Amino acid sequence: MELKEAIRNRRSIGKVKQDPVDKALIEEILEAGTWAPNHCHTEPWRFWVMTGEGRGLLGKGYAEVAASEADPALTEEELAVLKGAQIKKAFRAPVVIAVAVTPSAQAVVPEIEEYAAAHAAVHNMILTAHALGLGSIWRTGAPTYHPKMKEVFGLGAKEELVGFVYLGYPDMAPPSKATRTPFEQKTLWVSE
Ligand SMILES: Cc1cc2nc3c(=O)[nH]c(=O)nc-3n(C[C@H](O)[C@H](O)[C@H](O)COP(=O)(O)O)c2cc1C
Repeated sequence: MELKEAIRNRRSIGKVKQDPVDKALIEEILEAGTWAPNHCHTEPWRFWVMTGEGRGLLGKGYAEVAASEADPALTEEELAVLKGAQIKKAFRAPVVIAVAVTPSAQAVVPEIEEYAAAHAAVHNMILTAHALGLGSIWRTGAPTYHPKMKEVFGLGAKEELVGFVYLGYPDMAPPSKATRTPFEQKTLWVSE
């Protein structure tokens, strides 16, 4: 697929089939992530590929975040229902890739740039998924940055998750009404 076409036509696909995705395709997506620009070659990212029951890792994260924020008056049964619903969220796609930023230990690069690189890696990944005929969506939400989620993924003090890429074969048509504000409204041309 041509790059311009991939950029223009990629849409977030939130509903995908549970059909497995070939490991070779997942590896192509991961490799695309690693080709993102990154200042001083710090390559500030880590990936977790969760498939099958492995998605329970993210499920555990969602559940522990929800439990830690839940009303303490909940009964054990209510808490179990709440946690069950959270765990299910991680199973919305056959493959979920968690991406974390791992800011360089030597602080050669400002942290904001390490985040920029990790975000660029995610974009490379979702574009590549699209080019491979897969649907994907970059998901975050408050639980992504919660200390309990960090604990579940065993992140270091400076590390943060930057998103979860949910991947699979599309089970929905791409939204027909994707729009963007014309760049003219966001751009100032400066020529002298
Ligand atoms: C950092 C980031 C976080 C996002 N988190 C979510 C999310 O938690 N849930 C969701 O449905 N979409 C999420 N998205 C996807 C956006 O909703 C989506 O990109 C936007 O609606 C534009 O649609 P498009 O991707 O089809 O162009 C996220 C996108 C970015 C860049």
